[in-house]
Amino acid sequence: MEKIEAQKRIEELRSILNQANYDYYVLDNPQITDQEFDKYLRELENLEREFPEFDSDTSPTKRVGGEVIDRFKKVKHQIPMLSLPDVFDITEIEEFNTRIEKEGVKPTYVCEEKIDGLSVSLHYEKGHLIFAATRGDGITGEDITHNVKTIKSVPLTLKEPIDIEVRGEIYMPKKVLEEINQKRAKENQPLLQNVRNAAAGSIRQLDSKIAAERKLDTWIYHLPNPEDYGIKTHKEALDFMERLGFKVNKNANRVVTGIKEIEEYIKEKTEKRSSLPYEIDGIVIKVNSLESQKQLGFTSKYPKWAIAYKFPAEEVLTTLRDIVFTVGRTGRITPNAVLDPVIVMGSTVKRATLHNEDYVLMKDLKIGDIVSIRKAGDVIPEVVEPKKDRRTGKEVDFQMITNCPICGSILEKKKEQVDHYCMNTACPARKSEALIHFCSRKAMNIDGLGDEIVEDLFNLGFVKKIPDIYRLSDHKQDLIELEGYGNKSVDNLLNAIEDSKGNSLERLLFGLGISGIGDKTALLLVKKFKSMDGFLNAQYEDFENIYDIGPILAQNLYDYFHDLENIALIEELKRIGINMNYLGENERHHDLISGKRFVLTGTLSFTDRDSLSNLLISYGGSTSSSVSKKTDVVIVGENPGSKYDKAKELNIEIWDEEKIKSIVDNL
Ligand code: IVH
Repeated sequence: MEKIEAQKRIEELRSILNQANYDYYVLDNPQITDQEFDKYLRELENLEREFPEFDSDTSPTKRVGGEVIDRFKKVKHQIPMLSLPDVFDITEIEEFNTRIEKEGVKPTYVCEEKIDGLSVSLHYEKGHLIFAATRGDGITGEDITHNVKTIKSVPLTLKEPIDIEVRGEIYMPKKVLEEINQKRAKENQPLLQNVRNAAAGSIRQLDSKIAAERKLDTWIYHLPNPEDYGIKTHKEALDFMERLGFKVNKNANRVVTGIKEIEEYIKEKTEKRSSLPYEIDGIVIKVNSLESQKQLGFTSKYPKWAIAYKFPAEEVLTTLRDIVFTVGRTGRITPNAVLDPVIVMGSTVKRATLHNEDYVLMKDLKIGDIVSIRKAGDVIPEVVEPKKDRRTGKEVDFQMITNCPICGSILEKKKEQVDHYCMNTACPARKSEALIHFCSRKAMNIDGLGDEIVEDLFNLGFVKKIPDIYRLSDHKQDLIELEGYGNKSVDNLLNAIEDSKGNSLERLLFGLGISGIGDKTALLLVKKFKSMDGFLNAQYEDFENIYDIGPILAQNLYDYFHDLENIALIEELKRIGINMNYLGENERHHDLISGKRFVLTGTLSFTDRDSLSNLLISYGGSTSSSVSKKTDVVIVGENPGSKYDKAKELNIEIWDEEKIKSIVDNL
């Protein structure tokens, strides 16, 4: 075929396929058959292969997935991606309305469904998708273009060749989650917990083939720069985005006036919620007039012109069959509810933590009760209350245990604390829990050393303490001979153990299981101390000075690194060859930030303290909560506290809002 002719046909095919895609995935109204679509797609693929000079990043052939990236690039949002303040009842909505009216605005609102997914920002140049980013901390997100291209409802080419940014939600339809979980259940893989985590997990894949398989979808609901297009209301912005080819939730969105109409919308959506093909977790209420939005402005965290009404968590009934006790790695005893399995918000619940004796007594739970269950924070199942009117008299009173269910030693309860502890440091339950924790995904992430296998290895006597994990190769023959551990899986396991030696320090630090140190705190700490020796040499104040570390955590850390047994353990791990340094995540550098110690005080209008703190840390700075001679810079917002006076007193460099904003804007 002639070049000119090929180019023309390529353009024609792209336009046919884009339209077909739009009809199918945005309008839900296909005009051609799947076979026809595939035929055109194959023809286009062949032509693009033959005439690579006409290749395009936004060709419909790029939707199939297969692009693999080696890491997520950071992307700074030109306009911060804010979230919304949550409200939980109509009174709070009335208060929101009153605040707005007090500003002299007579509002019309747009009510929308609050889609349960993750927000995305899409950027187009001359009508072509150039990149897509996650929200991240609101200031900086991650480039997820390779995965977003596989989402069929995201147009790769718009209906007009304009430059534009739009924002919306990426979500996983309920049916897709069900299908994936059915498959995973058959393959004995852990189930995906809910649509939001499933969508977020899919979008955070380096290999876009996985995202493509997950059949994600979008609703677009926000235009950050409406004035560039002469748009006056949010409703017009929605219509405009729809005309450009985006999937806008037209049938769900509604312009309303007055609280009564908002209430009606909420009532309707509460009833319809379960029959929608996607999850919604609430309603978003936005002031329609963009001029009024501008007048109302923003707080440091949220727009003042919108709120999210969150639905009350779904509650279901089941029977409390038993209460069993587990021993954690610190010796803490937890009572757990054993429930008749029920589905709550898409996943099966069989167990729920009951925290401690007081909690069970406060809820007045009896074994045999009918209880209501909900998902707290939509993920962790929680027993809400017993249905006392359903009692038959056969229910059995709860009795707190007095001895450790594993080693039998007498439990202790410290004064004014609620938890019971097994104090026997040699208690097998404590030891095996500590080992399970060390190998777990967020800690050393040793593939093949899941909870049950670690427990087996512990019971068999092969692994009694952490260093034994790294000596498992001595037991290779035993392992191969054990039922269930094939030759190949033993090799894989030993390789995974060997690989874990190279982990960055935050994994080891978290894996050591220091009381109160979660994975995020571990990361924050290693960014500051850089190496294990940094921790071993630190004084109490070095811990306490860190923003986010309170006196209890500081004491835990100090005690841990001054305990002789722990020091011996760390020395042994060093000898084994486990990495003892923070390897960084391609840490970014900025002359004014890297290596400096910051203290933040007062309110900043363009961001909140947590986000700014994270940003400074990601550039190799550190933050602490109090000003000392070691502080390099104090960042001062509106209504600063005494830290400002202290900074002046100690003659420490002070940056005002304008200064920090100009630095952040140019990162
Ligand atoms: S508007 C400045 N509209 O809910 C306005 N958000 O807590 C930004 N969300 O981060 C958001 N459905 O991820 C908006 N119809 C909708 C939404 C929606 C879901 C999410 C979004 C946002 C969070 C707000």
